[in-house]
Amino acid sequence: MTHILAIDQGTTSTRAIVFDAAPAPVAADQQEFAQHFPASGWVEHDPADLWASTAATCRAAIERAGLRAADIAAIGITNQRETTVVWDRETGQPVGRAIVWQDRRTADLCRRLKEDGAEPEVTAKTGLLLDPYFSATKIAWILDNVEGARARAEAGKLAFGTVDSWLIWNLTGGKVHATDATNASRTMLYDIRAGAWDAELCRMFRVPMSMLPEVRDSADDFGRARADLLGAEIPILGVAGDQQAATVGQACFAPGMVKSTYGTGCFALLNTGDAPVASANRLLTTIAYQLDGKPTYALEGSIFIAGAVVQWLRDGLGIIREAAQTQPLAEAADPAQNVYLVPAFTGLGAPWWDSECRGAIFGLTRGTGPAELARAALESVGYQSLDLIEAMRRDWSAEGAADTVLRVDGGMTASDWTMQFLADMLDAPVDRPRVLETTALGAAWLAGMKAGLCPDAQGFAASWSLDRRFVPSMDPERRRAKIAGWRDAVRRTLSQPR
Ligand code: G3P
Repeated sequence: MTHILAIDQGTTSTRAIVFDAAPAPVAADQQEFAQHFPASGWVEHDPADLWASTAATCRAAIERAGLRAADIAAIGITNQRETTVVWDRETGQPVGRAIVWQDRRTADLCRRLKEDGAEPEVTAKTGLLLDPYFSATKIAWILDNVEGARARAEAGKLAFGTVDSWLIWNLTGGKVHATDATNASRTMLYDIRAGAWDAELCRMFRVPMSMLPEVRDSADDFGRARADLLGAEIPILGVAGDQQAATVGQACFAPGMVKSTYGTGCFALLNTGDAPVASANRLLTTIAYQLDGKPTYALEGSIFIAGAVVQWLRDGLGIIREAAQTQPLAEAADPAQNVYLVPAFTGLGAPWWDSECRGAIFGLTRGTGPAELARAALESVGYQSLDLIEAMRRDWSAEGAADTVLRVDGGMTASDWTMQFLADMLDAPVDRPRVLETTALGAAWLAGMKAGLCPDAQGFAASWSLDRRFVPSMDPERRRAKIAGWRDAVRRTLSQPR
C-alpha cells in the first residue's frame, strides 16, 4: 500500500486527492453541489449531496491515479467546519438539510443569550464568541423546527455531526460516530481546555448529550471504509477541520507560525503551542490539531468574504468573466482614485463581529469604473488580513514573538498582485508554497503519518518548499494613508459606532 486518499469536503465543492508517500498530489477529482438559500441569510446543503459527491470523487480520483483501492493505505478527511447535520441513528437518514456555517438564522437566539450574559462562560470554555457561525444554535434550531426531532433526540434516536462525522458514519456504514478535536472545537459545546463535551453548555443550548460524537485525535483510528464502497476496506486515520488541516499542511508546527487561507473567506491561524491564549481582540481560540492526546492551540481570525468578493465582481456586477481578469484590471486602475470596498455582504467577521452591517463602497467619482472597483475588491482582502494579523500580534505579543512571515494558500494566492499588496499592507514577507493544495495535504499527512507511510512532523516540515516570497515595497507614507482610508471606511460601515 503506497498511497493516501484525502477527502476535502468544502463549502462549494467536494474534492478527493490521491497523494503518494512524500506526500505529494498524484491525481484529483472535484464535484460542485447545490447551494440552497431558502430565506435571506439562510444557507443549506443536502447531506445526501455531500455524501454522494464524496463517494463519487473518491472513486474517480483513485481511478485517475491508475490505482486500485487496495493500494490506498489510509483515508484522511478534511471538511467545511461548523456545518451541522442531524440524522437518525437507525436509518442513517438526515432529518433535514444541513445548516451551513454561513447561515445567520440563529442570530436572534445568540443575541438573547448574550443579553442574558452567557457569552463570557461560552468564551472561557470554548474559545469562541456567541455567534450563529458555530454549530450549537444550529442544532437547537433543527430540534425545535423539525417535527418530532426534539423528542427523538431526547430518546437517543438522533445523532449530530459536523461534516466529518457525517462522512465517517457513511464511510463506515454507520459503525462509527466520531469526530476529531479540531471539529469539536467549532461546535460551541466542547471545552477546549478539559478536552470534553461540556454538560453545562449542552444544557444552555438545549442539546442532548446523547447526540454528540466521540472525540478523537486528529491522527487516530476512525474505523474502516466499507469494502463495497471503493473496492477494499480502507482505514480512516486522519481528520481535521479544513482551516486546521491547512495549518498542518503549511507545517505551522512551531508556536508563533501563522498561515492564512484565501478561499470563499479567509481564515488566519497562529499556532500558540500547548496553551490556549485568550484573545483580548475578538479573535477565536481554537484547537489547531491534536496528536497523541495532546492538543496544540491556535488563535484564529475569520473573515467571511475574500475570494467571494471576486465572485461578486463576476456574478453580481458582471464586470469580469473569470477571476484571472481582476489582476490586469487592478493594475490598470487610476492610482489617484481612493475607492474603498468594504465587503460586509454577510456582516463582518473578526475582529469586528458585526452581523448587522452590510457592504459599502466609498470614494466613487465620475471617473470610477470597473478597474477601480476590481482594485478595491482585491485590496479589501489585504486590508482585512491586516486587521486580523494586527489583532493576532497584539494578543500574542504578551506570550512570545509571532513570526513576521505569513504562509498563504488557497485560490486567491494565484494573484501575484494581491499577494504583493498583502505584503505591503502587513509590512512583512508573504510566503507562497509550491504545493497550494495545503488543506488536502494536511489531511493526507495526518492519515499517512498514522499509517506509518509518511515522514514524521519534522521530516514533513522539512519538505515544505517555497514558490515565491513577496517582500513589502510600498512607500511608508502611502501605506499609512491607504490604511487610514480603509479604517475610516470600516468605521462608516459598522452598524453601531465604535
Ligand atoms: O469555518 C468555515 C470554513 O471551514 C469553510 O471553509 O474553504 O469550505 O469555505 P471553506
